[in-house]
Amino acid sequence: MIHYAVEKRGQEIWLAERGYEPRFALKTESVFAQCNGYMGVRASHGLSVLDGRRGMFIAGFFNRAYEEESTELVNCPDVTEYLLKLDGEDVYPDRASILGYERRLNIQTGELFNKIRLRLDSGLELEVTDRRFASMEDQHLFVQKIIITPLNGTIQKGELVTGINGQQTNSGVSHFHKIDCRVYEKQFLHVTGYLPEDTLSVLMDCSCSNSGEDTKEFLLKRRGVFGRYTFHTTEGESWSYEKYVYIQKEEDRTELELQKEKLEEYRRSGYESAFGKHHEKMRSIWKRAGIQIQGATLEEDAAIKFAQYHLIVMMPWHRTDCSIAAKGLTGEGYKGHVFWDTEIFINPFFLYTFPEEARNLLEFRYRGLDAAREKAEAYGYQGAMFPWEAAKTGKEETPLYAALNIHTGKANKVWSGIKEHHVTADIIYAIWQYYTMTGDENFMQNCGYEMIFEAAAFWTSRARWDEARGCYVIEDTIGPDEYTEHIDNNAYTNYMARYCTNLAVTLAKKLERNQPRLYQELSQKLNLQQHIKGWVDVTDKIYLPVPDTNLIIPQDDTFLTKKRLTDIEKYKKSQIKQAVLLDYSRDEIVNMQVLKQADVVMLLNLFPHMFPEEVVKKNVLFYEERTIHDSSLSYCAHAQACAAIGQIELAWEFFKRCLVIDLDENPNDSTDGIHAASLGGIWNCVVFGFAGINYEDGQLNISPKIPEHWKEMQFYIQIHGYEIQVRVSNQEVVLKRGGGWDQPLPVSVNGRDFLLEDSLKVMI
Ligand code: BGC
Repeated sequence: MIHYAVEKRGQEIWLAERGYEPRFALKTESVFAQCNGYMGVRASHGLSVLDGRRGMFIAGFFNRAYEEESTELVNCPDVTEYLLKLDGEDVYPDRASILGYERRLNIQTGELFNKIRLRLDSGLELEVTDRRFASMEDQHLFVQKIIITPLNGTIQKGELVTGINGQQTNSGVSHFHKIDCRVYEKQFLHVTGYLPEDTLSVLMDCSCSNSGEDTKEFLLKRRGVFGRYTFHTTEGESWSYEKYVYIQKEEDRTELELQKEKLEEYRRSGYESAFGKHHEKMRSIWKRAGIQIQGATLEEDAAIKFAQYHLIVMMPWHRTDCSIAAKGLTGEGYKGHVFWDTEIFINPFFLYTFPEEARNLLEFRYRGLDAAREKAEAYGYQGAMFPWEAAKTGKEETPLYAALNIHTGKANKVWSGIKEHHVTADIIYAIWQYYTMTGDENFMQNCGYEMIFEAAAFWTSRARWDEARGCYVIEDTIGPDEYTEHIDNNAYTNYMARYCTNLAVTLAKKLERNQPRLYQELSQKLNLQQHIKGWVDVTDKIYLPVPDTNLIIPQDDTFLTKKRLTDIEKYKKSQIKQAVLLDYSRDEIVNMQVLKQADVVMLLNLFPHMFPEEVVKKNVLFYEERTIHDSSLSYCAHAQACAAIGQIELAWEFFKRCLVIDLDENPNDSTDGIHAASLGGIWNCVVFGFAGINYEDGQLNISPKIPEHWKEMQFYIQIHGYEIQVRVSNQEVVLKRGGGWDQPLPVSVNGRDFLLEDSLKVMI
């Protein structure tokens, strides 16, 4: 159930808090955050409250505070807070009586709207409204508008203090070694924060409603610069204040004069004008991305749109120097690092809707190729081994130790950065998906082929020839299920490794035949001749776990021999994530049939046609019984898999849970940021799972398995640069394609073949 109220106002949907809820403060700050791919600002209250953790994060703005710590997304100066003093009395919601309260997020525009009515000790009742957005039209711009209205008396001397506060830390760690603060032309507030390798410039301009402005003065504090604005106003008369903030990292930095000009322009035209431009941009994005579902309840529709809102605003549009973090730009969680989440869970939404952005995400990985080569070499492997956790570069950033074990006082070693290798295949999978969907030869020539060949070289050196078994094996690894460490022949990993070597062999042969010049170039650079034999060998002889007599694909060599966790239901139901680790040690968990998250099931999602339906069905059910879903990546994966095998009721059960991962009644979830992969997984489940869409080998496959009460779904996808409108129900499929195609597109609906010319209607 969605914790927030869902409100439809006109065509737009808002999520609203159901009252003043300090317990949910941290969660709501993440869930209602204002982001635009460049910046992410947590939706903290403007007025200071006891609970809350302010945060502004800028894509790609990382720093390592201490040698032994890993690099993290820096919590940047705060621009949202304001202090209010009315006729000598400080205004704090926690000290005053709250008479009315509203805080909501428009999930189509990303605007935050907060209205609070307070009674002060003096008896004065007032209303404070705070609106804000991070502009999609100018990604450096953040705008906030504050309106103060006395309801039962006058304000003779009101004081508002706000500005740029550089005292923010990442949970106590301060990253800027120096912060310069100053005021220009008695108008612009400016803070420059210095990191060893980057700087951040935050410039601010503001305007107050003419009627009330009395005086303005500037305050310079340690690591911050503020304006104090005084005003007076009478009962029912509002005083308003608009704040325009321009934020730039060193590499995007434009002349200060230019920034000032822009801010002045925004200020002169006002909040509504800047918001209008932002709204226009969002509208054009939704036009492509929107999914209409007839029959969906308002809550379902809202949760799906919420997922899309965050996907849209976590994308660093048009850039290749940063990617998408596991928490987007909404919190400190996972230190802003990038995982396989991006390629496997998030990339598909962009690939099918904004393929040029899917390319940018992959180019980010290409920029990290040299670092991946270095990682491979450091571990004694060949080719490129991509980092389990990446930040700005391609270097491995997984912390070596996690939080202390409170019982032993010792830090737990984190093995993922050392042993969780499947990310090197996940990236290749995403590359090939991208190429098949777009035919972008230019990307392949500049980045794709090289990455695929280097990954194949890695896997070939990673696999060991096992004389006794007569095959290649991959030992001592971690698959997607992180509760099972140090295992041999994880099914997901082995199949994905073979996928890479096989792809490399096919492409090398194709290039040699069709593009000999390019082949020569790559061959010289990567020594292809020397590698290809090894790729062929591993492709032919790597051990691939096959279904046993019960049709179960063993997750790894020993998984099926282990005992089950008897009280698994307790942990499945627990509100606390990973509660099982409080009762059992890691070593005990490793020796049980218990999964943190989907593992074999992920393999079935990525290759829906690799195994017969009966095998898929058996495995999904078998592994689900053993999965706690302690990772947010799990419900969506199970929902998609169940939909694919037509187990709609079960799919719906999981779908309902993944829909509310960030929106449910648990105040402890999402406190350090939203769950980006799960949000991507929602889209995957809707489009791949329920609509049954899959594009493979030049053919669009559709086999709808739509939940009973959803009558029809409609959305757009992009194939080879052209748009296709898809309308599906369990009774019919209707396709319409945009102009510009020169060839019909092969389409298969529930296994029946058709050709899509201009349009196609198939009854099921
Ligand atoms: C999951 C990983 C995931 C990471 C970031 C972990 O808890 O086990 O699969 O990549 O979170 O979302």
